[in-house]
Amino acid sequence: MTGINISRRRLIELGRATASFTLAAAAIPGPVLAQTGGRPGARGRPMPANVSLPSRPTRPRPGSVGYAIVGLGDYALKQMMPRFDRSQRSHIAALVSGNPEKLARVGDAYGVPEDARYSYEQYDRIAADRRIEAVYIVLPTGLHADFAVRAFAAGKHVLCEKPMALTSADCERMIAAARRADRKLMIAYRVHFEPHNIEAMALMQRRAVGNIRFVRTEQLSRTDPSSTPSENWRISRTLAGGGPLEDYGIYGLQSALYLTGEMPESITATAFRPANDPRFTEVFASVASQLRFPSGAVAQLATSYDAHGSNIAHVLGDTGALIMDPATSYEGHEMRLEGRERRSFSLGDPTVQFAGQLDHLSDAIRDGAAIRTPGEMGLRDVRLMEAIYAAAESGRAVRLDPDGQMRR
Ligand SMILES: NC(=O)c1ccc[n+]([C@@H]2O[C@H](COP(=O)([O-])OP(=O)(O)OC[C@H]3O[C@@H](n4cnc5c(N)ncnc54)[C@H](OP(=O)(O)O)[C@@H]3O)[C@@H](O)[C@H]2O)c1
Repeated sequence: MTGINISRRRLIELGRATASFTLAAAAIPGPVLAQTGGRPGARGRPMPANVSLPSRPTRPRPGSVGYAIVGLGDYALKQMMPRFDRSQRSHIAALVSGNPEKLARVGDAYGVPEDARYSYEQYDRIAADRRIEAVYIVLPTGLHADFAVRAFAAGKHVLCEKPMALTSADCERMIAAARRADRKLMIAYRVHFEPHNIEAMALMQRRAVGNIRFVRTEQLSRTDPSSTPSENWRISRTLAGGGPLEDYGIYGLQSALYLTGEMPESITATAFRPANDPRFTEVFASVASQLRFPSGAVAQLATSYDAHGSNIAHVLGDTGALIMDPATSYEGHEMRLEGRERRSFSLGDPTVQFAGQLDHLSDAIRDGAAIRTPGEMGLRDVRLMEAIYAAAESGRAVRLDPDGQMRR
């Protein structure tokens, strides 16, 4: 027994989720990440519900880095833009959006000058705008690569939302463009700046649970049953790839890597898409994968758009366990150690992760500091997701090189 307090309800839920993965094999129409169809276009969307805009703009701190926010959606407006206020070296210098009314409203609220508000058609003009030093790409995933490459061509640094892109070829294109332009590329993996996750990495490095035997992660939620791919990009193949794995399953994958400190040497996986569900005509409902590491540790990752909500990372070692629940959320993190060391952690406000990642890139731009979550990390993770889909498609274990490339 592990000594972990998993409730009976949680065990039943987990059992149900696992049964659906194993009972129904997916009909996968070819490699998911490589078959994203034609290049999708950027288009404006309505103002999300429940956005609260600042009552008055904040003045930029002298010497701070000016960012252009590209895509005024839910995450940009509700999480990231309000957090510039708490950053030391980053400010909002420009906005890029396909919705002119929203652009005007948000621009006024944040004090962005009218001549620093761009449509997608005007995007390349940022090259001449010296107020913009970095571009923060908060667009649907299928648009990340093209907008990043164009930002580098305009001479700007790039902070790109996760996942980096839909294919490893696109990730390589972005890395090459950054090198050519001699600009920084950072992937917005905010958990690397969140106190509980940072402490968890340190605990695992000092072997607080002994030798790691198992990691279990879950990133689960239920997509609105009335959603369709034309109005929700997260269930559209061209914009989202295979669905939940790229969206938030990537956090479970990340956790497995930074908690074990290892790269997997082989992967097995199952992906599931129910018949006759309009939400899952283009993406998977659920993906479950198992990663084996050189030490012998095994990680089991579950992610779904059709399961009761969960966001956990559990590490089970030979002398104890680390329980994170929720593990990678915006706030409300809870973390405890069980076994030889027993304690709960109270590590302050998890929302420092948002400003933390902004200032991290600004530090790299101003001082040349090394980037904790560079493009190479984004590429590594996209390669691993490609391996997960390849394993699900073939029904066999996929063996990996240490850089995450599939062994031929
Ligand atoms: N790090 C995290 O924890 C986290 C959390 C959530 C999301 N994200 C990432 O942030 C990015 C955006 O996610 P989101 O939740 O903000 O999405 P969202 O609410 O749907 O917003 C996306 C925005 O992108 C723009 N857009 C341009 N072309 C579009 C198209 N064809 N379809 C839909 N939108 C288009 C729109 O902005 P305009 O109307 O201004 O043009 C839209 O409002 C994704 O990469 C996602 O993975 C990260």
